[in-house]
Amino acid sequence: MIYQVYVRSFADSNDDGVGDLPGLLGRLDHLAWLGVEAVWLSPVMPSPNADWGYDVADYGAVLPEYGTIDDLDEVIAAAGRLGIRVLLDLVPNHTSDRHAWFVESRSSVDSTRRDWYVWADPKPDGSPPNNWVGSFGGPAWSLDEPSGQYYLHNFLPEQPDLNWWNDGVRDAFDDILRFWWDRGVAGFRIDVCNMMIKDAALRDNPSATEDDPFIMRMFGQRPVYNGNRPEAHDILRRWRRISADYSPTRVLLGETNVDTLENLATYYGSGDDELHMGFNFPFIEAPFEAGALADIVARTEALLPSAAWPVWTGSNHDVSRLATRWCGGDPAKVRLALLMLLTLRGTPVLFQGDEIGLTDREFDKDELLDPVGLRFWPYYPGRDPERTPMQWDDGPNAGFTSAGVTPWIPMADAPVHVAGQRAEPGSVLHFVRDVIALRRRSPDLLGGDYRALPAPDGAWAWQRGAETIVALNLSAEARRMALPPGPGTVVLGTHPGRDASPTGDALDLEPWEGVVVTSRA
Ligand code: GLC
Ligand code: CA
Repeated sequence: MIYQVYVRSFADSNDDGVGDLPGLLGRLDHLAWLGVEAVWLSPVMPSPNADWGYDVADYGAVLPEYGTIDDLDEVIAAAGRLGIRVLLDLVPNHTSDRHAWFVESRSSVDSTRRDWYVWADPKPDGSPPNNWVGSFGGPAWSLDEPSGQYYLHNFLPEQPDLNWWNDGVRDAFDDILRFWWDRGVAGFRIDVCNMMIKDAALRDNPSATEDDPFIMRMFGQRPVYNGNRPEAHDILRRWRRISADYSPTRVLLGETNVDTLENLATYYGSGDDELHMGFNFPFIEAPFEAGALADIVARTEALLPSAAWPVWTGSNHDVSRLATRWCGGDPAKVRLALLMLLTLRGTPVLFQGDEIGLTDREFDKDELLDPVGLRFWPYYPGRDPERTPMQWDDGPNAGFTSAGVTPWIPMADAPVHVAGQRAEPGSVLHFVRDVIALRRRSPDLLGGDYRALPAPDGAWAWQRGAETIVALNLSAEARRMALPPGPGTVVLGTHPGRDASPTGDALDLEPWEGVVVTSRA
């Protein structure tokens, strides 16, 4: 089970309103208590923060606001002593425009690093080299007036795209991987790894059609040539080889933000030669409905190579939190969603705050910090709503930082916090901890295969391994479902009073109730 720490919003140790590595160090006991096995830290490298860390200015250092590289070493060592491994966020698609490589690349068309980025001449009328639109909207090209050429940026103009056709870029990243692996990181979450390499001929993207997903229709085109190229797989294979040289437990977890499960499956290669794991965006973006989710899980199970390991997530720093988006703030639904994530076959990734059912905060326009929110307001508020600080206690600023300090981003208004829920055995937090503990001692839940079981409308049930059944009622009405014959016991449930109760041939579930049943006598 992986836990995503958005470092900037986790814990502030020195009262500047910004979360930092010593702050994280001081809160590792929470993660150990919860049963977390690995953390993924959102970018901690130096960055001018045009895109809050996803514009990296130096791949071999730590942002001073977050601490020093020694602090990071200490986090890795202390986490290791608690049985928690640390994954860093690696951003290979683009750098910051302040990265020394780009400064040099931009300095002259003859620069030895010119070809490290994607430069191209304007069309004869002076317009951009092709029709590509960036993922944050607007043309994916900016003109560099002194040289008269455009450079490519699939995101902000402050995030120039690297040219992955260039061997120097590939060698530089081999060294970056090794640099961090030598320091004991367990692996990387790889930012937009499906877009790293672009069509060498820079062909125009085809127009979107009526049947395409909303985002393509909005941008008017399919991202066929500015990403999702077959050559991305060569890079992942290269990295998998480097990771294997270190040890079989070094992990490559890709941000595979692709719209089909067929495409997601390709990033696992033959099952052992590309990513170890890739995020499942069709699942993240699905409605919280039994039919839709069961269908995605069944297709994921069928499409992934046989030994491949799925990933299940409901929240991250880019999407509305699951407690809001899936559950409308209802703690009963939050338990059900978390039970689902933690009992499917694969690795669950929880986002900080999921374990207390933290909800999004609504932002006014003048509070926005995310460039994407600023661009698309009021149609889309951007990603600030899910990036508010972690809530630790009932003190000022919920214990994220001291009283009187203004956090870098406003606190959410949700009255939930870790201390309160730790003191309350029936809380979401205790429930999550119990599910994680069950998962860690159950060979079925850890490694057993997934088989869907018949379930009435609005419900979803599956078997894991030889003797474990998970049944969820994702509806507002009670549901009854048949169970395979034989004895059964509820080992854990979302609703009070269910645990340890025997089951018969049928299982009755209350609205939004979920249970784990074992057929062990
Ligand atoms: C990824 C990150 C997101 C960032 C984008 C550009 O999608 O998760 O936060 O804005 O890449 O780097
Ligand atoms: Ca701080």
